[in-house]
Amino acid sequence: MKERLKKLEAEVLDALKGAKNIDSVETLKTKYLGRKGPVSALLKDLGKLPGDMRREAGQAINQVKVKLEEKLDAVLMELKAANRAESLKSDVIDVTLPGRKSSLGALHPVTSTLDDIESIFLKMGFEIAEGPEVESDYYNFESLNIPKDHPAREMQDTFYISDDVVLRTHTSPVQIRIMENSKPPLKIIAPGTVYRRDSDITHTPMFHQIEGFMVDENITFADLKGTLTHFLTHLFGAKTQVRFRPSFFPFTEPSAEVDIECVICKGSGSECRVCKGTGWLEILGCGMIHPAVFKGVNFDSEKYTGFAFGMGIERITMLRYGIGDLRMFFENDIRFLSQFK
Ligand code: PHE
Repeated sequence: MKERLKKLEAEVLDALKGAKNIDSVETLKTKYLGRKGPVSALLKDLGKLPGDMRREAGQAINQVKVKLEEKLDAVLMELKAANRAESLKSDVIDVTLPGRKSSLGALHPVTSTLDDIESIFLKMGFEIAEGPEVESDYYNFESLNIPKDHPAREMQDTFYISDDVVLRTHTSPVQIRIMENSKPPLKIIAPGTVYRRDSDITHTPMFHQIEGFMVDENITFADLKGTLTHFLTHLFGAKTQVRFRPSFFPFTEPSAEVDIECVICKGSGSECRVCKGTGWLEILGCGMIHPAVFKGVNFDSEKYTGFAFGMGIERITMLRYGIGDLRMFFENDIRFLSQFK
């Protein structure tokens, strides 16, 4: 046994001399000291020896095993240290180089348009309110003078969650929620997402609107015109032409749509695809709040009058920046978004 151990030890040390890299030392280690190696085999055979010799032989084998392990590990350590020194030499770090700049994000163009719109109204003394996106049929339609089976429901393709619950198709329900819980004078804007079953280059199933309304004694259509003209000339530029065109909404009477002079052809209309040759772009819907709406929230329509308006933020953003396809807003392509820094 002693002879076999000596020979084994010598063999390993000899092989180690030829091992020049980490891999070959690791291979030696598994070959001789691993579970299937000769040392393990010797230990396994111990059982065959008579009892009194077993102890001594076991100790001898273990001694050699530990010695060889230490030797191999020491060589491994040396090789690893040498490797590290070598790679440090080639990976020189120039600490005087300037750092890499992390690229700054930018506001989404829809967000910055919304910010600009809000700031114009805040300066006129409006306050910001919000309402739920999942809305009852009552707030989205009924309270806004759109009874069931009213043809005006066809104006907006609705996502129904149940017979009585919808994804709001406009921000107008916020008017009702605010009026139910407060008293005039009121000057409110209410931005948020709205949902309609619509999808093409100018429609997405989810988009943003901003609602606005004002209620007090003696509010007239002149206040509506003045407020919205001020707003549009501040958003699109002082020289922008604005026109009010008769229209219909069940919750306002009279109602109007507001157009601005086309931002692309500057109102000339000649061969303009954006305004389809009319020279005008439709921007928002508005009107004087209908007495039936006031009745539902217990406002005395003999005493109070008010106006309301609503507009789509994506559409306004497209016109401001000359963006042709609405879907770009929702693709989150960094190359598109980084143009709006
Ligand atoms: N809610 C209307 C729409 O979504 C817009 C509107 C709001 C019109 C307020 C008049 C008054 O089309």
